[in-house]
Amino acid sequence: FTINNQTVSESCPSNIALIKYWGKYDNQIPANPSISYTLNHCKTNTTVEFLANEPFSVQTFLAGNEEVKFAEKIEKYFRNIEQYLPWILKGKYIIRTENTFPHSSGIASSASGFGAIAKCLMNLDEIFSGKDSEEESLRKASFLARLGSGSACRSLYNGLVVWGESQVRGSSDLFAVQYPNDEIHDIFKNFNDWVLLIHEGQKSVSSTVGHGLMNTNPYAERRFQEARENFGPMKEILANGDMESFIKLVEHEALTLHAMMMMSEPAFILMKTGTLEVINKIWDFRRITGLPLFFTLDAGANVHLLFPNDLEQNKIEDFINQELLLFTQKNGVVKDVMRF
Ligand code: PMV
Repeated sequence: FTINNQTVSESCPSNIALIKYWGKYDNQIPANPSISYTLNHCKTNTTVEFLANEPFSVQTFLAGNEEVKFAEKIEKYFRNIEQYLPWILKGKYIIRTENTFPHSSGIASSASGFGAIAKCLMNLDEIFSGKDSEEESLRKASFLARLGSGSACRSLYNGLVVWGESQVRGSSDLFAVQYPNDEIHDIFKNFNDWVLLIHEGQKSVSSTVGHGLMNTNPYAERRFQEARENFGPMKEILANGDMESFIKLVEHEALTLHAMMMMSEPAFILMKTGTLEVINKIWDFRRITGLPLFFTLDAGANVHLLFPNDLEQNKIEDFINQELLLFTQKNGVVKDVMRF
């Protein structure tokens, strides 16, 4: 390969898991398979300036502000993937990123961030080492993104995406794959995800620490097994459009992730008072109206409000605007709609 100065730009969305990845083995091998929706509106835009033949170093800017901690993380990541990209330590990097969603909103920026960087690296690799097919290039980007942040590997694809060996065709522990489109009922191809921003600021536990705590959690094995088993019903639900079972399964997954953290040593409670109040409001609303509004959670206090994008969504939106927005901090709500 021959390397020279290059500037490449890419954009990558975040994602929200329905069956959660929580717990991993060496080299970012997930302890169980996971499935997510890609959040088309929550994106990271990244520009990588590569200065060939300069000593290896990384400088990063987030929305124009230099971020030294992030640069250290990327530097470590680049050293880690040298075995796959032999040119990677042969230059200086100036990386500029910005998110289309509010800073410190708690929306997973590591997924979109590592996804965008992995895509930029694949662009450079194709310039230096030759072009791959579109499919192969995406798979490699997903593989590289996984080594930065596990959940990031799912952000390379649109719609419903699976990471981890499971009953899903072609799935792998090494990269994500798109869930087969012909096995998805139409109701799931057009879905709202509104993130209710309950709490701004630092999360009480990083995902690195969180995954690590699963190593000593006495319930971990049972949880990994359950997640694997949940792919059975999930496949059926996605095919037949059974919303009631979908709601039950997705909420159970979210609460299980939080329960695992409560049962770890040391214990963490990732919800805030507002999180619990919102969950109770959602359950009351569903009991009274029968409308399909439900939630999932990341490893934090914010609530992802999920509901189909259909004729009845006005009633759900009114309820969110009138009752649930009271529990948010100043950023309010980030709206996304998945269409695929
Ligand atoms: O990708 P990581 O290591 O930051 O892990 C994220 C894990 C969850 O977001 C909590 C769940 C998931 O599957 O995305």
